Formats: sequence, C-alpha cells, structure tokens
Amino acid sequence: MKNKNKFYITTPIYYPSAKPHMGHAYSSIVADVFARFKRLDNNEVFFLTGTDEHGLKIENAAKKNNQSPIDFCNDISKTFRDLTKILNLSNDDFIRTTETRHHKTVHLLWNKLLKNGDIFLSKYKGWYSVSDEAYYQDDEILNEGKNKIAKISRSKVEWVEEESFFFKLSAWQDRLLEFYNNNKDFIMPISRRNEVISFVKGGLKDLSVSRTSFNWGIKVPNNNKHVIYVWLDALTNYLSAINFQNKDNSLYRKFWPESLHIIGKDILRFHAVYWPAFLLSAGIHPPKKIFSHGWILSGDEKMSKSKGNILEPIDLINEFGLDQIRYYLMKEVSLGNDGKISRENLILCINSDLANNFGNLCQRILSFVNSKCENKIPTPKEFTSEDNELLNSMTSNIEKIRKLMTNQNLNEYIKFTIDYSFLANKYINDMEPWKLFKTDKDRMNTILYVALESIRKISILLSPVMPNSTNNILTMLNIDFKKQDLDSVSNNLILKPGQDLNKIKIIFKKF
Ligand code: MSP
Repeated sequence: MKNKNKFYITTPIYYPSAKPHMGHAYSSIVADVFARFKRLDNNEVFFLTGTDEHGLKIENAAKKNNQSPIDFCNDISKTFRDLTKILNLSNDDFIRTTETRHHKTVHLLWNKLLKNGDIFLSKYKGWYSVSDEAYYQDDEILNEGKNKIAKISRSKVEWVEEESFFFKLSAWQDRLLEFYNNNKDFIMPISRRNEVISFVKGGLKDLSVSRTSFNWGIKVPNNNKHVIYVWLDALTNYLSAINFQNKDNSLYRKFWPESLHIIGKDILRFHAVYWPAFLLSAGIHPPKKIFSHGWILSGDEKMSKSKGNILEPIDLINEFGLDQIRYYLMKEVSLGNDGKISRENLILCINSDLANNFGNLCQRILSFVNSKCENKIPTPKEFTSEDNELLNSMTSNIEKIRKLMTNQNLNEYIKFTIDYSFLANKYINDMEPWKLFKTDKDRMNTILYVALESIRKISILLSPVMPNSTNNILTMLNIDFKKQDLDSVSNNLILKPGQDLNKIKIIFKKF
C-alpha cells in the first residue's frame, strides 16, 4: 500500500464547562469519519481533539462547583477524554490547553504578532458574552427583558471596560478577502463562505486579545496583569499538538497546512476570520479548509444544557449500540445544515437501513452459505450480465466515491453505499439462489460469491461510519480489515473460494 497524502483533521476543543452532549458527540464523530476514510484511502492522518480549559466561563463554572479551576478542568476534561473511547474515536492525540506544550505555543504566536506590529495596548469598552467568550458590537445586541443578549447566539452579554491589548484585525480586512478569493475551498459549505465574506466586507474592528478582570488563562508574555483572550489561546491548540513550538517540529512540517478543521456554525467567525488573520500576521499559512456543520436540534432548538433539551449520547448508545448511533447521526443530519433528531427517527433508521437492508443481506447470505456450502466461500464459475451489473455498479464508481468524501459530501456517500446494499438485496431476490441448490450448484455458488463480495465492499465503505460492526462482518468473512483499503473495493475477486467463513453473529438487531 502506498501512502498518498497527509491530512491533519481536527475537532473543536471542547469547553469542559458542561457534560458532553449529543452536539459534542456529533461534531467528534463527523471528524472521526473523515479521519477513518482518509486512512482507508491510504493517506497518513493525524486526528486531534481535546479540551479548551481557560477563560471566564471555566473560572465561573469551577467557582460554582467549589473547585479550583485546574481541579475542575482535570475532572471534566477526563469525561471528554472518556467520551473519545465511548464514541470509538480514532484520535491520535488529545490536547488540553492547560498543558505546558500549549502554553509555549501561545507565547510563541503572541510574540510573532507583537513583532509584526499587530498588537497594541488600549482600552476595551463594549459588550462581552461569557457564554460565547465573544465580543459584540452595538448592532449585534438585542434587549430581552432586563437583559441584553447577542442576536446571533441569544446568550447574555455584559458591558466591559478595561485595559486591553488589541490585535489590528482592521488592517487584515483586505488581505483576508484576498485570501478567501485565492482559496475558494477555505470555508465550506459555500453558504458559510458567503456569510463570512459579507461579514468581513462589512468592516473589521480591532480585536481585544487580552483581559484584566480575571485570572484563569495564559498570561501575556512578561505581563502578569493581562490574560490572553481565550479564543487566541484556544485556536492555537491546532499548532501546539503538532509541535509547532519545538525545535523538532517534524509533525508540523509533515501535516501543516494540510488541515481540515471540522467545527460547528456557532464558532465559524473565530475560525474563518480571526484564526487566518492571526496566522497570516505570524507568517504561517492558514489551514486548508474550515468545514462548518450545523446544529443538532432537539425539537426546533439547539441542544444545550441551558435549554434542558439534551438527548444523552451515552444513554442512547447503551440502549441502541454505538455504531447504530454513529450511523443515524451521519445519515440523518445533512452535513452543513441543522438536523432534528429523535428516538422515533432513530428507531426507524436502524430498522430500515441496518436491520432490514444491510443486516438482512448479511444475515441471509451468510446463513445460507453456512447451511448449504459448509460455511466456505463458494467457487464462482461464469459471471452473467446481472452479476457484472451489480459488481460494476460499485467498481466503476470508486472515483466518484472518493470525490464525495474529498468534498465532505458524507450524506451522498452513505446514500450511495446503502442504495448499493438495497440493489444487492434485490439481486438476491431476483436470482433466488435457494432454488438452485438441487438443480444448478455452479450458478448458485456464483450468485453467493457475488453477494459475499457485495457484503465485503459495503462493509469496507461503511467502516469509517460503523467501525465495530463492519469489522465484525469482515471477520465473519475471514478477512483482515487492516489489509483492505478503498482500492480493494474496485477488485471483484478478493474473497478466496474454498476458504472457511467464521461463526455468524447477529449484527444489527431490529428495534
Ligand atoms: N471551546 C470552543 C471551541 C474551540 S476550538 C479552537 C467551543 N467549545 S464547545 O464545547 O462549546 O463546542 C464544541 C463543538 O461542539 C463546536 O463545534 C460546537 O459547534 C459543537 N456543538 C455544541 N453544541 C452543538 C449542537 N447542539 N449541535 C452540533 N454541534 C454543536 O465552542
């Protein structure tokens, strides 16, 4: 297997101020699916997640819990680290912004901005939302009863007046627009790109990048009074984890800027405006792509602790199975848009796509081979036009499949695969191999071989979404998943006739 390209895929680092919920799980699984797909396609991948532990929001949450900020972060960061195991994420690293390696990188970046003349001392007077850790202009604020709230997130804002260091964001407006223009794929989907461009065209104000009214954060180099703005701190994690700060920065040299940041739409401005501006100022190439997904909605609202409408990922996983939840989220939520999820839809999706379609295909073919072919891979003879049609409808589409995932068109990818499973079921119904046992064993064997090959290919394509279940199916086929890759899907004759199959287990239960 030859290595093709390098990819650095990241999730946002999570605020450990709340228990992980379905929105967090969704964000992580999306990134994991792309990381697994790129590895399946023989690319070298570095996949990062972690926790964003500084700032007033965390300081307040720790206080409320009667803990020091670091004890509080140690506890909650662990629940996010545990979640990576529960969700079977294939991350290569888990970064915490309270680590020394990160502290060093933030200082290094700050000093680069300073050296470039983009940092100056002044006074901030304006609105701040602790919940979003974001500054807002007057025209971004609404009245709600006695409170002022941010239009965009509806979170409470407060008036802040304090000495602050600023980043000369206004000076980067034209160069950002030029960068977006030269890098058409930088912000995806297109609707988000347009949103960002019109925001930047509307005029950029200099950005306050330090606070003096609290302590919990990374101090400005040689200035203990100022804590670095938590978003400047947090975004830098993408560099810290690949050792940008070290003399030996081979990971950085290998993976940067071939980077895909998967983020939610609520944090687009930080990633698509502030982050490339900081990087350009520091003389570092911005990442290749920022892909912004929508929100997971429960009813019509964003799922969040403050709204009390949380569907617990761990409860659902215990009840329905991890791969079932991963499949449902990736299939049902159109990537880039908001998606409503519910128990009823989850059950419908598991039953129709997994139990009745793909699971049924596996179950009936494997049981039939078990009872009529001594549980060995049957030997195919001549392939008919029907056989070739089914086989080729996958093999001739490999480039299309690869392109779908390069463009983060995950829903079409899953649809293609599950539609193929539907075709394979139809093929079996039409071919009726069970009628041939006494009359034409060669033909029966060929049909079963074609069906088993289809099961192998579907399992490989679905492996980024459902790693455990597809691995179990490939194990039943006596195939070592590690030796399979995307290219093996375009080979129709991988299964070895006469080879034993392993014991059959039920993969997808009906609910
Ligand atoms: N700490 C920042 C990210 C810093 S990245 C340098 C943050 N953390 S978060 O915990 O609030 O959110 C993490 C991710 O989860 C974000 O991408 C956010 O969009 C996503 N989600 C949080 N709730 C969500 C939903 N209800 N639905 C989908 N994703 C949402 O932001």
